Amino acid sequence: MSTIGLKILMGVTGLILVGYISLHMLGNWQVFLPAVYINQYSYLLKSVPLLLWSVRLVLLASFAVHVASAVRLAQLRRAARPKRYDQIKPNGASWESRSMLLTGIGLGLFVLFHLYHFTWHFPPFSAFDRFSARLSETSHPVPDVHRMMVEGLRNPWVAGAYLLGMSCLFFHIRHGIDGIFSSFGLVNRRSFPWERWLAHALGWVFFLGFSAIPVAIVLGWVR
Ligand code: HEM
Repeated sequence: MSTIGLKILMGVTGLILVGYISLHMLGNWQVFLPAVYINQYSYLLKSVPLLLWSVRLVLLASFAVHVASAVRLAQLRRAARPKRYDQIKPNGASWESRSMLLTGIGLGLFVLFHLYHFTWHFPPFSAFDRFSARLSETSHPVPDVHRMMVEGLRNPWVAGAYLLGMSCLFFHIRHGIDGIFSSFGLVNRRSFPWERWLAHALGWVFFLGFSAIPVAIVLGWVR
């Protein structure tokens, strides 16, 4: 596939993943409300298996295509530049642009840890499976996601790992969104670089928006 085709694939799948992350952050903010809100929200999402599995499938496919196009683009770039790397001087490209691979791998590792922690509940997090709560006095018990989040993030080491993951997300999204604009020629360096501001603003919104959760839990503001 051509370089431009690969860039389109990367951009489109990246935007799908950013869309999921935005909704995920908004949903997670319910942890700041009484427990019943996020428990009900999570219960409702899981009570429509077709919707849940469709979203999971789209996410998984987007992730796979995003990574595969990144690898292919890197191969093409290397093939087009036969010089040895130690002969190439950094040409003003930003730190993020040279670190997309590193932050991408960091983000991938974070998501693996995150699924292990909050979705699969593998040891030593198996107890999360048994947390249950009632949405009303008469309702049947449902998973207590609020308690899982509080217990799961109150350990400062775990919270620290989340902050590290959020830092990777910050750099990856900030440069990724900027890259989408440059790839499609939507950048006019002479005008006000609004696309750069948008990329930075989104990076900060995700970083601060997600990090607020483990920080508030470690400080005991959410319990
Ligand atoms: C402070 C940050 C975050 C918190 C507190 C958080 C919280 C959660 C919780 C509680 C679940 C399990 C929901 C349930 O089973 O009821 C979950 C699932 C998930 N989270 Fe996060 N999340 C965070 C950041 C992220 C980020 C940055 C990403 C992606 C880059 C992400 C991707 C996912 C995915 C893919 C799932 C699995 C969804 C599924 O089961 O289909 N999360 N998260």
